[in-house]
Amino acid sequence: MKALFAVFSGTGNTARVCSALAELFRARGHEADVVPIRADSVYPDARAYDLFVVGYPVHAFNAPASVLKFLKSLPKEKGKRPAYLVRTSGEPLAMNDASAVSPRRILKKRGYAVIGEYRYVMPYNIIFRHSEGMAARMWKAAETAFPSDAEEMLSLGGARKRIGPLKRMGSFALRIEHTAMPHLGHRFKPTEKCIGCGACAKLCPQGNIRMEDGKPKFGKSCVGCMACAFSCPEDALKISLLNGWRVNGKYAFSAEPATDDEVCKYCRKSYLRYFHQRGV
Ligand SMILES: Cc1cc2nc3c(=O)[nH]c(=O)nc-3n(C[C@H](O)[C@H](O)[C@H](O)COP(=O)(O)O)c2cc1C
Ligand code: SF4
Ligand code: SF4
Repeated sequence: MKALFAVFSGTGNTARVCSALAELFRARGHEADVVPIRADSVYPDARAYDLFVVGYPVHAFNAPASVLKFLKSLPKEKGKRPAYLVRTSGEPLAMNDASAVSPRRILKKRGYAVIGEYRYVMPYNIIFRHSEGMAARMWKAAETAFPSDAEEMLSLGGARKRIGPLKRMGSFALRIEHTAMPHLGHRFKPTEKCIGCGACAKLCPQGNIRMEDGKPKFGKSCVGCMACAFSCPEDALKISLLNGWRVNGKYAFSAEPATDDEVCKYCRKSYLRYFHQRGV
């Protein structure tokens, strides 16, 4: 089996998950190439692969606009090539499964059949910062699921999630994010703490940031991935209306996993259910 992972990841969570799955594919004697979905990426022809895996973070209960654009650009297939969706989300809510609706539809039109979908809870890169203990427990839960999920994909098994009308409606309403983000992102600004290192410009998957007189300037193709604000070494970006939700700095994933008592209060019940279902 030869698999192509096309992965959009703003702050590394989805890339981390997809790399771990690809590594398991290789450990089982299969080929797995991982390509980032970025404006400057050169993509291999997906038709040269037996299996197509699309990885992305859930953004406002949807797939990021850049992922949809990438999927629409795929060369049209005649048959029904097997595809899987691998998502990460900051909270376990089932509503996040609705992020499969548009990718499924586009992939179907391009000649792919989404056979199965996986979603792993990973720490927030916006809204608030999870504790390192929460991040470690999330990773432990994901790692527990990887071997059987990888096996399932390699045997072309698995299933699609049922997405009811309420979830579809909620997700559809929040697709406004796709329209709003380019305008919000255009208003991102460096503060006086900016040292002009250019890391934000280099990391932006959209090529939306250019350095001008040693400071970043933001264009109009932001998809809200948070790579810039999250990875700025000086925490020197003001992200417009979203500034109160800014999260800065990588998670280490190496702390002692949070105990049940330490699980964060927000969505506590659903995090606990998610962890316990995975036996962690
Ligand atoms: C603009 C934006 C919207 C988000 N919306 C959701 C959401 O609707 N549900 C959720 O569970 N997490 C949401 N998240 C959190 C991310 O899905 C989560 O942190 C993900 O693991 C980030 O992956 P990445 O590091 O690969 O970018 C959102 C993050 C961003 C930046
Ligand atoms: S990453 Fe931060 S410090 Fe570096 S140029 Fe961008 S805003 Fe300035
Ligand atoms: S400007 Fe920042 S948030 Fe917007 S796409 Fe680029 S890196 Fe992501």
